[in-house]
Amino acid sequence: MHLKLSLGALVATSSLLVSAAPAAESLTKDVNLRLIKTSESEATWISEEDKITKYVAKNINFIDITDIKDPEVLANLNGESEVRLTAAAAAVVYPTSLSHTAEANTAIAKINQTNQQGWLTTLTEFYTRYYRSATGTQSSTYLFNTITTIAAANPAIKVTKFTHSFNQPSIIARIPGTSTNLVIIGAHQDSVGSTSTGRSPGADDNGTGSVTILETFRILASSKFAPKNTLEFHWYAGEEGGLLGSAGIFANYKSTAKTVLAMLNQDMTGYSPAGKPVVYTDYTNAALTTYLRLIVTQYTGITPLTSTCGYGCSDHASATSNGFPAAFVHEEIFATSNPKIHSASDTLASVNWSAVLRHTKLTVGFAIEASYL
Ligand code: BES
Ligand code: ZN
Repeated sequence: MHLKLSLGALVATSSLLVSAAPAAESLTKDVNLRLIKTSESEATWISEEDKITKYVAKNINFIDITDIKDPEVLANLNGESEVRLTAAAAAVVYPTSLSHTAEANTAIAKINQTNQQGWLTTLTEFYTRYYRSATGTQSSTYLFNTITTIAAANPAIKVTKFTHSFNQPSIIARIPGTSTNLVIIGAHQDSVGSTSTGRSPGADDNGTGSVTILETFRILASSKFAPKNTLEFHWYAGEEGGLLGSAGIFANYKSTAKTVLAMLNQDMTGYSPAGKPVVYTDYTNAALTTYLRLIVTQYTGITPLTSTCGYGCSDHASATSNGFPAAFVHEEIFATSNPKIHSASDTLASVNWSAVLRHTKLTVGFAIEASYL
C-alpha cells in the first residue's frame, strides 16, 4: 500500500532532519512506512518496497532507524564521535600475544568444508532469504534446525530464536562459560535481490559468513568446548533491511545490561581477488581490531589488509552503536568488493572456498582466544 505524503515538511529530531513524517505512529505501522537514515544529518520516511528498489538495489546505503528509540544509539550511528563503551567492556585489555595457539590449532584441524558446502547449497536454494518473505522464514527454520541438531552434541548449549517485528527470527546459540561475560560471533542470515520479490541466492552475501560461523560452532559443540567467557553465535535476521535483527538484539543487550567483551562480524567471506582477509576500521572498536589483526595473522598466516565502508554497513555497527566493542573482518577491500551481491548472480558457483577456509580458521582462532579474555 502506498501513502502519499506532503513533501517539504522538515522536522528536526535529535539533530536529524526528518522529511515528511507521517501524522501518527500507528499510521506508520499500518502502511509499513520505515524511517531510514541516509546520511549523517538526514532521515526520510519510505515504504518497505521503495527501501529495497531505491536504496538496496541501487547500492545507496542507509540504516533503518524506525525502531531505534535510544538517542545515544542514534548519535553513535553517525560514526564520528568516539563511541562510549559500557564500563565492563572499556576495562578489557586485549592481549598483545596469543596464548592458546595449540588448542586453537587442534580445533582448526577439524574444519570440514564439505559441511559448509552442503549448508550453503541448501541456503542458496531458498528462492530468497529476504527477511519479510515466506522463504526467508523457511530458511531461518532450516538454519535453526541445523544449529539445534549440531548443538545436541553438548546438552549445555542453548539455541533460541530472537523474534522481531517481521517474520524472520534471528537465531542465537549459546555455549555457557564459567563467566556470564559474552564473546559474540555473528553473521547475517538474510539475503536480498534487486526487489523484495526477486531471486536472491545470497551465496556470498551472506551465506558464506553464515556457514563460516556455523562450522566454527560445530567444532566447538562437538568437542564440548567449555569456555571461560560465554560464547554466543548469532545469525541475524533482516540485516539487508537496515541492520534490523542486530539492532533489536543489541538494544536488548544494552537495556538488560549485558557485558559484551567482543563482537566479531563475518559478512561475506568467499570472494577475494586480493587473497587476503581485510579488517575494517570504521564503526568498530580500535583496540579489539588490533587484537583481531593479531588473530588473523596467527591463524591464516596472512597479515590482513585494512579498509572502511564509510557507513554502518553491517551488524558490527549495531553492536558499536549500543556501546559494545565490535570488529569486522571481510573478504576484500571495499572498493573491489564482490560486484554480484544483491542480485540473482550471487551464486554458489562463484564462491571462493579457500577464502571461506581462511575466514573459518580465523573465526575458530578468535572464538578460542577470546573465550579466555
Ligand atoms: N554485506 C553487505 C555490506 C558490505 C558490502 C560490506 C561490501 C563490505 C563490502 C551488507 O549485507 C549490506 O548490503 N549492507 C548494506 C547496508 C545496510 C545497512 C542495509 C549496504 O552496504 O548497502
Ligand atoms: Zn548485502
